[in-house]
Amino acid sequence: MSLESSQPPASAHASAPAREVLVWDLPTRLFHWLLAASFLGAYVISEGERWRAIHAMLGYTAAGLIAFRLLWGVVGTRYARFTGFAWAPRAVGEYLRSLLTATPRHYVGHNPAGSWAIIALLAGVAATAATGWAVFNDVGPGWMEDAHEVLANATIALVAFHVAAVVVSSLLHRENLARAMVTGVKRARDAVPAAGNRWPVGIALVGALVAFWVGWIPAPGLAPGIAASSLTSPNAAIAKHPGRESRRERDRHEADERSDHR
Ligand code: HEM
Repeated sequence: MSLESSQPPASAHASAPAREVLVWDLPTRLFHWLLAASFLGAYVISEGERWRAIHAMLGYTAAGLIAFRLLWGVVGTRYARFTGFAWAPRAVGEYLRSLLTATPRHYVGHNPAGSWAIIALLAGVAATAATGWAVFNDVGPGWMEDAHEVLANATIALVAFHVAAVVVSSLLHRENLARAMVTGVKRARDAVPAAGNRWPVGIALVGALVAFWVGWIPAPGLAPGIAASSLTSPNAAIAKHPGRESRRERDRHEADERSDHR
């Protein structure tokens, strides 16, 4: 664990003036907001067949973003690296206890409780995407669809908790954490800034996602370019992929047909 990244700077240099410090590099910020958009987007349109192709594309996008973040957690800048997270269980306890005092401990990077919450979020999104892939491609046992739904709901609950924690933490520390995730910058005393914004990596990340959405990178179970065509005509994707109905929808259709025959 890097002390510079995770220790409260104020305790060591209380007299140093606060200044603006780059904390979240561009790839980390892009990852965050694209993950939030793709996961929430996929969740909102998950019911029904109409947006099935877009739902799958958003799920694959979230999975790709997680894969990128795991890599970036090793080779990214100071506060993005997993070694810079405050993991120690003792630190979690101390941090949570300090929240009950008038001077809660301040971390420039992720705080100890946040570090664990982030891993839970990454795991929840990854497991939801993996089971979604299996359902969409008819791989694995029938309970996979239920598992996908349970995991998606559990992850949404985690997201709600995450957003609430961001609000509470912002109020306690009197700093706007959501804005810092947009600008990358926080005000801190004597904190070591991240090495840079890593623009080329951010541009490459967006480029890879654009290539995926226009069909240059294939999506499992979907014809190339199907996302673009199903945005204008959502049912086209299902017409070309009649096998992509969910089990629940198939059951419903079969029940409808049975009642029609009666
Ligand atoms: C829409 C409302 C959201 C807001 C305002 C928000 C805000 C934030 C903020 C401020 C942080 C940095 C926390 C810190 O300072 O330690 C963060 C981190 C994170 N958030 Fe969110 N978040 C939102 C939605 C989501 C969603 C929907 C997901 C996942 C599905 C998500 C996943 C994450 C992850 C994985 C991190 C760690 C970032 C990293 O180190 O790469 N967030 N979020």
